[in-house]
Order: sequence, then structure tokens, then C-alpha cells
Amino acid sequence: MVFGKRHILSMRDFSREEIDLILDRALELEPYAKGKRSDRLKGKILANLFFEPSTRTRISFETAMKRLGGEVLNLDSTESSSIAKGETLADTIRVISAYADIIVLRHPKEGSARLASEFSSVPLINGGDGAGHHPTQTLLDLYTIKRESRLDGISIALVGDLKYGRTVHSLSIALSFYGASIKLVSPPGLGMSETMKSDLMDLGAEISEHDSIQDVIGDIDVLYVTRIQKERFPTLSEYNKVAGSYRIDKKLLESAKDDLIIMHPLPRVGEIDPEVDGTKHACYFKQAFYGVPVRMALLTLLLEGDGDE
Ligand code: NCD
Repeated sequence: MVFGKRHILSMRDFSREEIDLILDRALELEPYAKGKRSDRLKGKILANLFFEPSTRTRISFETAMKRLGGEVLNLDSTESSSIAKGETLADTIRVISAYADIIVLRHPKEGSARLASEFSSVPLINGGDGAGHHPTQTLLDLYTIKRESRLDGISIALVGDLKYGRTVHSLSIALSFYGASIKLVSPPGLGMSETMKSDLMDLGAEISEHDSIQDVIGDIDVLYVTRIQKERFPTLSEYNKVAGSYRIDKKLLESAKDDLIIMHPLPRVGEIDPEVDGTKHACYFKQAFYGVPVRMALLTLLLEGDGDE
């Protein structure tokens, strides 16, 4: 299969076969994520363009690139760049794509990655576009599910802000390729959009909506918890109406399956009680680590092809 040089904008751009290829390669690269030496991407440059806060996505791309011998440029929208002078995204991308071999873009506007890709002469990876999509988070989420549970035919609850949360938008699309039963649990007003739900049904996903985590906790293999996306709310008072409306604690887990795994893209801001961290169910810190081998896999496929052309 030819993976090829291309932009990574949404999970809709992948076939199941391609996702499996990335996950298999991530497994091969795990030793390098843990520190084994490699110069596989020597001479290649990644540009991290982050116009919204990020810890894991930016740093794990940087770690993945550097542990494979590549180099990283970092740009943000603060005083030090021309973005502060009013340069358009299109011009920034045109210029940076002449300096770097690959670009990771995070931007507050939905659709910005697709727009930017039209001006990029090198592969552009969407590192999160507003409330839109976050495909590389999904690849590492799938890898975590594969490593810590199993991918086919799982029952998963997506909990929290399903309206503004980009990670759950991307993840639910990908899960539909693996025959998952997807249970949507959100506070009032933060449910998944009708468009998104009908897209998922068109993809053959089995989805159902529930009012509380208690209703589903005994039936699921994966509990995927998300943060309420405070920064996307029109007003602070709208946010305050739903803030703190759910919290995973040990009591809730008493009715969980023995092998339930709990995931969270992080950062968490109170959705998971720290007392859960020490339980066998907690997977979220491992999940954050898995971002490194998965991003290594993607970078090698985009920068050097899959060697099977
Ligand atoms: C997520 C994001 O930025 O969408 N974080 C991440 O990339 N790990 C989730 C969030 O911010 O809530």
C-alpha cells in the first residue's frame, strides 16, 4: 500500500487499512519512543505552528521527531512572529512550507487546517482546528484501545462535551470503522450535533444517547472522558451552567467491568477524581505516552513513504 505524502486533516481521509498500517508501525517504533537511538529522520525538519495552547500534541510531535533524529521549529502567534503584525494564515503557510518538510498546525478556527493545506507545498497535519477535528489524537486513542483492550466490536462511552470537543468528533468517526457500539453521554446542551450523528449513522456506526454515566458504566469496555471546552463557550455564564456537572470517582467504578479502561485526552480539570489514578482502570497517562510512537509512525510514513511502493 502506498501511504504517500499528503495532508492529514480528518479521520474521514483514512481507510481502515491505512489506520491499521499506522498502528502496526507505531508498535514497531515503541522502543524508539522509549529512548532507543535512531537517525531515521535525520535531515528532516518539522514546523510546529501552534496558535492555541497545547502541551501533549506539540511536545509529543517534537519528541517523536527528535528521537528519530529530525529537527523541529516552533512558531506561535505571540509578539515574536509576524502573525502579530497581521500576516494571513495563507502567507504564513506558504513561507513555512518552503522552510520545513512537514507542518503541524493547531488553530482556533474550525476548517483552518483544510484551508491552510491549500497553501502548503509539504504535508500538513491538523493538530486541532477549533471545535472541528483532531485526527492524530484519534490515532493515539485507537492505539491505546488496541494496546490496553481490543479494537474490534467494543462498547465505548464518550462522556462530556460532545458539542465542542474535537477529539470525540474524530474518534467517533474512526470507531465506526471498527464496529463499535458508541454511547454518547453529555450534559444538557453539549450533545453531539445532529449533523455529526447522522454522518456517523451513514458510516454504519451504532450510536445511542444517555443522560448519565451510571446508566452505561456496567456495559462498556472503554470510558472516554473529556473536558468541557470552556474556551469555545459564547459566555462565561453559559459555561458556569454546566461546569463540574460530572466526575468519575471510585464509587462509580464499583459497577464497572473488571477490564474497563478509562481514557482522557487531557488536560483534565476535575472530570476524573485523582483517586482513580491508582486503579487498574486508569489509562490516561499511558495514552499520553502513546502519542509519541503513533506520531513517529505517521511522520515516517509521510516523510519517507511506507517502503512498499
Ligand atoms: C485536547 C484538544 O486540544 O483538543 N487535548 C489534546 O490535544 N490532548 C483535549 C482538550 O483540550 O480538552
